[in-house]
Amino acid sequence: MSQDHESLENLLQEDRFFLPSPEFAAQANAQPDEYAHANMDRLAFWEEQASALTWEKKWDAVLEWQAPYAQWFIGGKLNASVNALDRHVAEGRGSRVAFHFEGEPGDTQTITYAQLLTEVKKTANALIEIGIKAGDRVAIYMPMIPEAAIAMLACARIGAPHSVVFGGFSADALLSRIQDADAKLVITSDGGFRKGTAFALKPAVDEALKGQHNVEKVLVVARTKQDVAWTDRDIWWHEIVARQSAEHIAESFDAEHPLFILYTSGTTAKPKGIFHTTGGYLTQVAYTHKVVFDLKPETDVYWCTADVGWITGHSYVVYGPLINGATQVMYEGTPDTPHKGRIFEIVAKYGVTILYTAPTLIRTWMKWGDEFPLAHNLESLRLLGTVGEPINPEAWMWYREIIGGNRCPIVDTWWQTETGAIMISPLPGITATKPGSAMRPIPGISAKVVDDNATPVADGHGGYLILDQPWPAMLRGVWGEDERYKETYWSRFNGIYFAGDGAKLDNEGAIWLLGRVDDVMNVSGHRISTTEVESALVSHEAVAEAAVVGAADAMTGQGIVAFVILRSGIAHASGDELNTQLRNHVAKEIGAIAKPRQILIVNELPKTRSGKIMRRLLRDVAEDRVVGDATTLADPNIMKKIAEGLKTAKDED
Ligand code: WT7
Repeated sequence: MSQDHESLENLLQEDRFFLPSPEFAAQANAQPDEYAHANMDRLAFWEEQASALTWEKKWDAVLEWQAPYAQWFIGGKLNASVNALDRHVAEGRGSRVAFHFEGEPGDTQTITYAQLLTEVKKTANALIEIGIKAGDRVAIYMPMIPEAAIAMLACARIGAPHSVVFGGFSADALLSRIQDADAKLVITSDGGFRKGTAFALKPAVDEALKGQHNVEKVLVVARTKQDVAWTDRDIWWHEIVARQSAEHIAESFDAEHPLFILYTSGTTAKPKGIFHTTGGYLTQVAYTHKVVFDLKPETDVYWCTADVGWITGHSYVVYGPLINGATQVMYEGTPDTPHKGRIFEIVAKYGVTILYTAPTLIRTWMKWGDEFPLAHNLESLRLLGTVGEPINPEAWMWYREIIGGNRCPIVDTWWQTETGAIMISPLPGITATKPGSAMRPIPGISAKVVDDNATPVADGHGGYLILDQPWPAMLRGVWGEDERYKETYWSRFNGIYFAGDGAKLDNEGAIWLLGRVDDVMNVSGHRISTTEVESALVSHEAVAEAAVVGAADAMTGQGIVAFVILRSGIAHASGDELNTQLRNHVAKEIGAIAKPRQILIVNELPKTRSGKIMRRLLRDVAEDRVVGDATTLADPNIMKKIAEGLKTAKDED
């Protein structure tokens, strides 16, 4: 197929691949016939997966699809919390550990399924006493402590959709989310522990609630025991929950009953309230958690490092793993407190077997140096996962060698807040993985790479990643903004979901994610993905992390400007020599067209709270503009530091 107007160039070639070991393959939950089985009858396949849940009433029809509106398992009735908890206890698994909780200061809690169920029942009773009814929205603004999961499950138990707002967000961000969902209750804590100190949360709630809202009560967990201001609206969690009955018979809700709203952090516009329902969502999170992570609930210790404030925390800390009866680690703090080996120390302490984390953390570990992981025994690990951003092949190789001891399959899982559950990923006992590729859609899912006319591209070409069939865990809309739902996701291609990501197919049809299409650079008429240039830079031994942007260029339309973080403990050239080396390295890896015009060595990159690089801000710096709205940055000072570094570099020129 000739492609004159290639929507995205295919530049980076990768020849390495890794087969699952025969031992892993033999014991894997998903066996090679899984894909064919799903393809034979996609809807029957999802019905089969839904049957693994406990339903009070079976569904009458599997799917009703009137693009862009889907309903799954219509007429079915179930309760999310019963699926996560009651059925394990009823079937004799009550003494299994659900959470090994590790607080940042080193305090720990071991919580079994039976204990978790009791806490959730009492909390559900407390919510009822407060006056929360099915359908009422509850905002949850908490640190990463067991009560966060308990609060979510208690809401789900009584049919009150939760809206978890990440604890790192400001009072303003909290208020706008409270208003948008019209929440009636806020569940929070006095504070939490982070980077060695107690931070406060309750004051941000008090500040937020000075605005317009219909919040009647604030339920407060005492985590740090710091002093807090108190009003008549506030209730201590430990007081109200302690006096509740430990009995609560859960009512079942419709499969399409709203389970939660989760606001996407949105780097520009007003956040979108992505809303998910119950039956289809639970079906897909449970299925994917079982086959992608190969969970063996009796023996595995599973650890997903995501905060409950993100979709990963919803799907792969709370709902998926608990439905599957997993034993998990939950950690409150940051990876470098009190030392840069904290995560590895916890892996060794609990014998973690499955670790699911984000490329941003993997690249941070690379930057810190190998000595931190190497100081701990990581032999319990048997599977590694990543999510959130494209993982550069070299970061993938480092993860495999240094963390996984060359023994663990890696699952690079592509999905979104909107998709609710994993959509594209290797299956660890089946797929020969390639470093940097999410490989192919999981069984039962249809994803394609298409050109501007929605025509699938041939192998070896790039384009837009789309989902052309409804899936059980898909968003059911943008809360209160139907037009925005249609406009944002369904208008680029008629009746087809466009995720916003660019991707390419390699010569064997494997899918490589190439970053958001808004970030694509246009150099002399060639559309070049940021991901490929960044991966080329990271494949140089001196580089831990890179971010590239296209900056206006009189000659070429856009020129590539690269921001690079170096690895510690590795000898390398400096100054002009390093600069030349890196530019030549990119030219060698992917071609002269992608040679950066300018390379800036920096210590940090601007990232959102969930670890995504904010290229928009780097573009402002590269084009000498005043830096735009940086309120969603994890560290607001970073742009100042980068701009200052840039100024010094220019002065030296
Ligand atoms: C966007 C969704 C899904 C949980 C965390 C992020 C990017 C996500 C991958 C991956 C390349 C990825 C995409 C996607 N993304 N996973 N494995 N490879 N890119 O959820 O905040 O809704 O972000 O994250 O750009 O569209 P989110």
